[in-house]
Amino acid sequence: MEEHILWWPRLDLNQRPLPCQGSALPTELRDHSKLKCDYSKNIPIIKEPSYKQTDIIIISIIIYSKGYYMNNIKSQTALITGATSGIGEATAKVLAKMEVNLVLTGRREENLKNLKESLLKEFDIDVQTLKFDVTNKSEVLEKLTNLLTKTDIDILINNAGLALGIETIDQGDIDNWEAMIDTNIKGLLYVSRVIIPHLREKNRGHIVNLGSIAGEMTYPGGNVYCATKSAVHTLSEAMNIDLKGTDIRVSNIAPGAVKTSFSDIRFKGDKQKAEAVYEGYTPLFAEDIADLILYILNAPLHVNIQHTLIMPTAQRNPYILHRKED
Ligand SMILES: NC(=O)c1ccc[n+]([C@@H]2O[C@H](COP(=O)([O-])OP(=O)(O)OC[C@H]3O[C@@H](n4cnc5c(N)ncnc54)[C@H](OP(=O)(O)O)[C@@H]3O)[C@@H](O)[C@H]2O)c1
Repeated sequence: MEEHILWWPRLDLNQRPLPCQGSALPTELRDHSKLKCDYSKNIPIIKEPSYKQTDIIIISIIIYSKGYYMNNIKSQTALITGATSGIGEATAKVLAKMEVNLVLTGRREENLKNLKESLLKEFDIDVQTLKFDVTNKSEVLEKLTNLLTKTDIDILINNAGLALGIETIDQGDIDNWEAMIDTNIKGLLYVSRVIIPHLREKNRGHIVNLGSIAGEMTYPGGNVYCATKSAVHTLSEAMNIDLKGTDIRVSNIAPGAVKTSFSDIRFKGDKQKAEAVYEGYTPLFAEDIADLILYILNAPLHVNIQHTLIMPTAQRNPYILHRKED
């Protein structure tokens, strides 16, 4: 049987299967009931022998002519804090595929270098790396101010952040508290303070802040981490309000459990405790959040997705989590 490949850009972007039938399909394509896909590869292979190459071309034309997969962010430049792992790294990869130029930042220089090399091998984009600690005010101000003398930033992803410990408030480690406040709140503010005036000057841009479900519902032992993410939500709201009248959009994202190095760091390398967080259910993965970020950034200019809550299907809130052994 002859196989035809439907080039499905969003699927290719995420390298994961997208539904090829049913409600996720544009109406025009739903009528093509013979569209059967094989998900064994990264792109759908049309198995229906009656489909001819011309049919595939027509389907592709429908997709493009309707603008379903318009790339609104091509050739823009995104600055990502915390691009050395997890959500930041996954976002860099997704944006690179959309031909977005990148400024990757974080403390681990080797990771930045490796990510830059692998992206440059695959994509025809500009990639810069900047090593800095977001808690170091003078370093952040100096490096970003210098960056802006030669680079025009369109997108800021305020992603760098961490949780440390899960003790009750009376047992908490004050150094951990300070590290979380310094990184998640003050670091985000230092970076934003340099980039937002640049965006305002151009009257356009997009800021994406990584909040958390922890910023909406406090859970036992989450105390200071929850407070920092609550602050991120407030700051996202404040940015939107203060940037009224501009074409600058601000989006806050509040994820539930995402399997990254987040828990390794929270439990300071205690693998058993970190693994236990994700046992018995399918958590979100960094790519799921990157996918959402892409959707938000790629929305047309008149659409400002201000706040999104994204949870694993098994987790309805920090308390309600269905584990297999439950
Ligand atoms: N994973 C989850 O379940 C979850 C849920 C809700 C929200 N979030 C939020 O999502 C964001 C990304 O977390 P993740 O899950 O992707 O965790 P991750 O894999 O541990 O990534 C955290 C990133 O933040 C950077 N970072 C931390 N402290 C920094 C500092 N002082 N200066 C500069 N960069 C710093 C790290 O880079 P370096 O170590 O190289 O500096 C790393 O790239 C965080 O804001 C987190 O609070 C995560």
